[in-house]
Amino acid sequence: MRTSLTILGLESSCDDTAAAVLRLDGETPTILSSIVHGQNDLHAAYGGIVPEIAARAHAEKLDICVKAALTKAETTLSQIDAVAVTAGPGLIGGVLSGVMCAKGIAAGASLPLIGVNHLAGHALTPRLTDGIAYPYLMLLVSGGHCQFLIVRGCGDFSRLGGTIDDAPGEAFDKTARLLGLAQPGGPSVEREALQGDPERFRFPRPLLDRPGCDMSFSGLKTALLRARDVLMDAQGGLTRQDRADLCAGFQAAVADVLAEKTRRALAIYLGEAPATSAFAVAGGVAANGAIRAALEAAADAAQTAFVAPPLALCTDNAAMIAYAGAELLRAGHRDDMTLAARPRWPLDRSGPALLGSGKKGAKA
Ligand code: KG4
Ligand code: ZN
Repeated sequence: MRTSLTILGLESSCDDTAAAVLRLDGETPTILSSIVHGQNDLHAAYGGIVPEIAARAHAEKLDICVKAALTKAETTLSQIDAVAVTAGPGLIGGVLSGVMCAKGIAAGASLPLIGVNHLAGHALTPRLTDGIAYPYLMLLVSGGHCQFLIVRGCGDFSRLGGTIDDAPGEAFDKTARLLGLAQPGGPSVEREALQGDPERFRFPRPLLDRPGCDMSFSGLKTALLRARDVLMDAQGGLTRQDRADLCAGFQAAVADVLAEKTRRALAIYLGEAPATSAFAVAGGVAANGAIRAALEAAADAAQTAFVAPPLALCTDNAAMIAYAGAELLRAGHRDDMTLAARPRWPLDRSGPALLGSGKKGAKA
C-alpha cells in the first residue's frame, strides 16, 4: 500500500461544479485545493434547479475547475495518483458531465478512475475533517438528502431511515417561498425565526407516532400554508410578527422531528456497542443553530461525541469526493472506462428504495 496518495476529485451531481486535490499521508488527509462554482444565478429566475441548465453549466465549468484546482494545489497531472468522480446519485446530465470529464483525464494521463457515491462523500466527511473512527452514526440533512446511516467502512453503510418525501432543506426553501422570503430558504427562515415565538403555531410532528427512523416533511409546509392563509383571510396580510412566528413554529417542528429520530437512531447504533461512539451531521441544514443545538443535545444525552464538519465541507464540494476516492483506492477499489453515471444509487443496497424525488434529483 502506498503511504501517500494525491487524488483529483470532481463533483457535478447537483448545482455545484467542483474540483479538488487532496493528499492522504498515512491516515492524515490534507486538502491542497477545493474549488466550487455555484449555479444559483443561473437558476434564480426559475424557482428551482433546471437540470438541462445545470448539465450545460457543469460541462462548461468542469475543466476550468480542474485547472484551477491543480494550479492552486501547485500540482500537475503527473503528480496525481487517481481521479475520483461523483458517479451518482444526482441529476443525470450533471453526473454524466463529471464522469465523462474524469474518464477523459484518466485515459489521457493513464490514471486509475474511481466512481464515488455522492452520499458516501458526505458520509465520510467527518473522517476527513475530524478523523473519527468507524463505526459512527451519520445524519445527512440537506436540500436533497435526509437519512441516518451507520458508517462502518468506506463501502459499508446501513441506512436506519430517512425522509419518505421532502428533504428538510427543501421544506425550508418552500416555506421561504410561501412567506415571500429570499432563497435559499434555510438561512432566511432561521433569521426570521430568531424574532418569533415557536409556541404560537403548533405544527405537526409527522411520523413521531410511528416506530423507526423514517421522517416526513411535506405535510409541514401544507400546515404552514393553511396557517398563513387563515391569517391572510382574517387580516388581509401578514404582519412581521406573524411571519416570524410562522418561521419559528416551522423550525421548531423540524428540529423536534430530527431530534427525536436522532434519539432513536442513536439507540440502535449504541446497541451495537461501538468502542468509541460518535454522531456526525452533514448537509446545509446542519448549519441551522436551533437544529444543530437539538441534535447536539441528543448526542450529549447519549454520551456520544457530536461532530459537525465546517459548513464548506458539509455542503457539496469535491474534497469529500477526493477523500472518499482515496479511501476506496486504499481498499483496492478501481473502476474502468465502463463506469456508469447513475441517477439513483442507494448506499445501503440491502435497504428499501426511497420514494419520491426531490428538487435536486432522485433520493437514493
Ligand atoms: O447541502 P446543501 O448545500 O445542498 C444540497 O442540498 O445538497 O444544502 C442546501 C440546503 C438548502 O435547502 C438550504 O435552504 C438549506 O440547506 N440550509 C438551511 C440553512 N442553511 C442552508 N436550512 C436551515 N437552516 C439554515 N441555516
Ligand atoms: Zn450533497
